[in-house]
Amino acid sequence: MENIVFTQEDQLAYVTVSRPDVRNALNKETLIELKQTLEKLEEMDEVKCVIITGEGEKSFAAGADISQLEKKTMYDAFKSGSMQEIYDYIEGYTKPTIAMVNGYALGGGCELAMACDIRVAATHAKFGLPELNLSIIPGAGGTQRLTRLVGRGKALEMILTGKLISSEEAAAIGLITEMAEISNLKEKTVEIAEQIISKGPMAVMMAKLAVNMGADTDMKTGLLIEKLSQAILFASEDKNEGTRAFLEKRKPVFQGK
Ligand code: COA
Repeated sequence: MENIVFTQEDQLAYVTVSRPDVRNALNKETLIELKQTLEKLEEMDEVKCVIITGEGEKSFAAGADISQLEKKTMYDAFKSGSMQEIYDYIEGYTKPTIAMVNGYALGGGCELAMACDIRVAATHAKFGLPELNLSIIPGAGGTQRLTRLVGRGKALEMILTGKLISSEEAAAIGLITEMAEISNLKEKTVEIAEQIISKGPMAVMMAKLAVNMGADTDMKTGLLIEKLSQAILFASEDKNEGTRAFLEKRKPVFQGK
């Protein structure tokens, strides 16, 4: 791997975009490496949560690599392996994902953060979808995910003006959930990750599925997805362990079964 660094600390995996000279801009090669890394992590049972971040303290990711964008033709938008497809894969990832936003999250960088389950940002981070400055639109889920996260009015304002917003504003509109000084960013992120991984992994997976699939459908279908997910969990060993542990006043030991 040239542009993605992967490290593991106990049950947490850190996937770091590492192209600091170009503010961690996401070129095609980096996206391929990102997907390959995530596929590998999916097979590693000991990894319970994936934290995606950027190298350094300046930038999470400054979007698609504009030098490659310049060469794109109409047909490239339809090719498989696009940024949009990879982010869709991340949204549907079987393990929980946290974007640890250490600086600029712009364009495809902001879209990457939005494809993750949770966004935690450094206080100095900046968010924006400035694609219209290049006379293109946010095409890696940005028009859809931002709208679902913050509502149509704010999404249209951010997309049409291309303005950058602070972490504080991002928290106020629901684009991120937590903020921390850069010196505490990792600690804050780990705190959240540990809360998630103390739960049964199947329940985490099903909760993600019910929320994400349900958000894109009507209420009746969403409720059916919820019911079927619950039915699967009712049949799991972890549900027996979770309920028994509570009644026996001890910590549960989940097996992911
Ligand atoms: N693609 C390719 N190169 C990029 C890039 C991108 N998305 N973002 C930054 N870079 C490069 C710059 O061209 C510059 O290269 P150089 O050193 O060869 O001149 C280098 O990274 C540093 O960028 P610079 O603009 O000097 O840094 P900065 O700290 O002043 O500003 C940003 C940082 C992120 C605010 C600014 O680089 C920026 O606006 N980037 C583009 C963001 C964008 O439009 N993304 C959407 C793309 S669809």
